[in-house]
Amino acid sequence: MAGLRYAPQCCLAMATRICQAAETNIPSPYSGTAYYEVALLSQSNQMILTRAPRLRDRIAKLLGQWGVFFRGFLEHPRMVGSIIPSSRFTIEQMLEPVKWNECKLFVEYGPGVGTFCGPVLERLRGDGALIVIDTNPLFIDYLNRTIADSRFTAVLGSAEDVEQIVRDHGHDHADYVLSGLPFSTLPAGVGPAIAAATHAVLRPGGAFLVYQFSAAARDFMAKHFDRIDQGYEFWNILPCKLFWGWKD
Ligand SMILES: C[S@@+](CC[C@H](N)C(=O)[O-])C[C@H]1O[C@@H](n2cnc3c(N)ncnc32)[C@H](O)[C@@H]1O
Repeated sequence: MAGLRYAPQCCLAMATRICQAAETNIPSPYSGTAYYEVALLSQSNQMILTRAPRLRDRIAKLLGQWGVFFRGFLEHPRMVGSIIPSSRFTIEQMLEPVKWNECKLFVEYGPGVGTFCGPVLERLRGDGALIVIDTNPLFIDYLNRTIADSRFTAVLGSAEDVEQIVRDHGHDHADYVLSGLPFSTLPAGVGPAIAAATHAVLRPGGAFLVYQFSAAARDFMAKHFDRIDQGYEFWNILPCKLFWGWKD
């Protein structure tokens, strides 16, 4: 490295490439490991770390996530119900009506590999909490390894037990509950039980946010939620239906 200190300005790019061999792994809240490129400041002869995840690293991370998700699907196809995670268009549209300044506890059912977790944590207030619940230990283990945020808790369990889980973590109620559960393929009785428990755990004014390929969830929601807004997202594999059930 010392020899590079006297490299002229025009050699900076080459120097940076050489220095990339000394890539440093630094823990990051959302990726577990983020790559920082080592660059040289030619004028002051100082070495700096710039946060510059390269395309290769982003692709590796994406394939890693999809690989875990696909494995989860192969092991439990009816419980996972999809072969790839939701698109960013679905995420944006689904979260759009949330009043983040009024949200202290956000609960997510079936987070899978955490497609929604990053976007939720980005929007959530500093003193807020995100509790995610999934029946698949593969996903819970993956989330615990890749998300380091003091507001985040991953629980191995079923969404049917949301009231107990929320209480166990020191909360009286949830402000919003998000679900990516495949309601139409869940075992008999589970969907209605989850809809009832969700209505009970929400505070008045809170909402149950649901996205699904079919409208099965809406039938379960309608028994408890008088007001259900609907949407549709084409840019998702497969295109999906979106529901917002409001607890008035
Ligand atoms: C379609 S995947 C959701 C993927 C993810 N939310 C996304 O948007 O990419 C459904 C998830 O629901 C989980 N699941 C199925 N039944 C469940 C239940 N009763 N309680 C909690 N999670 C459940 C599965 O393990 C799986 O992670």
